[in-house]
Amino acid sequence: MELFDVYPLYNVTPVKAEGVYVWDDKNVKYLDMYGGHGVISIGHSHPIYLASLSNQLKHIGFYSNAVQNPLQQQLAKKLGALSGCEDYKLFLCNSGAEANENALKLASFKTKKQRVIAFKNAFHGRTSAAVAATDNDKINAPINKQQEVTFLPLNNIDLVKMELEKGDVAAVIIEGIQGVGGLDEGSTTFFKALQKVCLDNNALLILDEIQSGYGRTGAFFAFQHHKIQPDIITVAKGMGNGFPVGGVLIANNIEATYGMLGTTFGGNHLACAASLAVLEVIKSEDLLAHVNEVYQYFLEQIKSVSQVKKVKGKGLMLGVEFDFEVGTLRKRLIYEKHIFTGGSSNKNLLRILPPLTVTKAQINQFVNALKSLLNE
Ligand SMILES: Cc1ncc(COP(=O)(O)O)c(C=O)c1O
Repeated sequence: MELFDVYPLYNVTPVKAEGVYVWDDKNVKYLDMYGGHGVISIGHSHPIYLASLSNQLKHIGFYSNAVQNPLQQQLAKKLGALSGCEDYKLFLCNSGAEANENALKLASFKTKKQRVIAFKNAFHGRTSAAVAATDNDKINAPINKQQEVTFLPLNNIDLVKMELEKGDVAAVIIEGIQGVGGLDEGSTTFFKALQKVCLDNNALLILDEIQSGYGRTGAFFAFQHHKIQPDIITVAKGMGNGFPVGGVLIANNIEATYGMLGTTFGGNHLACAASLAVLEVIKSEDLLAHVNEVYQYFLEQIKSVSQVKKVKGKGLMLGVEFDFEVGTLRKRLIYEKHIFTGGSSNKNLLRILPPLTVTKAQINQFVNALKSLLNE
């Protein structure tokens, strides 16, 4: 059997990883400024993470959600405490798309409405409601067209208000900072107004923190920079540092009923062990403070690359924008400088999503590599 060929692949075969580095099958060492789509939060193969997962595996790796699993309560408590979202309830699932799918379903259950407002360039995943709320026709199949989604530009509250006042909108879904779309974000004024118009019109505000959450922007959640309180928050990626896990944080006024949501694998023992280790390391290594420090350092250092037009994003969720397409630059960074970076739907933008443990020396390595390639 052959693989279903949906991914254009770089010719690199990672076989080992540690911290912010990855080694290929020829023992070439790469600096990971991308974390495999922003997944690696506490660094590859962190000793606490390895110990937590291997210890858990020796005891029990999986049982279904039909029995008690105290690790889930521990995870909910720890996540609530560290994120400052103690007043939310946690539903555990397996991926970002599944988290958004469940968030959208919850909003529809709660409001008994079905239309969704999403934003231009949004990416929310590839399952049915999540992909319909993703602003990319190419990944929406005809079957996804049955969802009612209206896409609006970011930062235009009047348009959102006009749509919400029609009375049929269940949810507004928005990324803390857009990832795949190219690092655009709502202003504080916009986020605050969004919360108000949702409340006024019985629609739920869903914050997709799948990429921007778990400390990546220097706050636990990116929306916390704007001092708002969403109805639902979705998480995945950095939550498990590579172990597939997702979560939906649900405001207290949304009531659970048996059977309303469910999953076979979600919240399994290994997923909880991985997620608990991630939270422990974020706390013990004070990674939020570290992200803020290296972010400022990055901004200073990148000024020395004269070809950079703009740096978008916050913390370690950054887009470095040029006035040319970066496809070739990304290839040269990998093959000549051995540095992974990411792309986005903005073809002029390098997406930077390193492990949150990246050091100033590693940022220097990246900036020097950029300069050397661009000034040849
Ligand atoms: C903001 C955002 N939401 C949702 C998703 C979908 O997550 P997953 O690929 O885990 O389904 C992604 C993935 O890139 C994302 O960046």
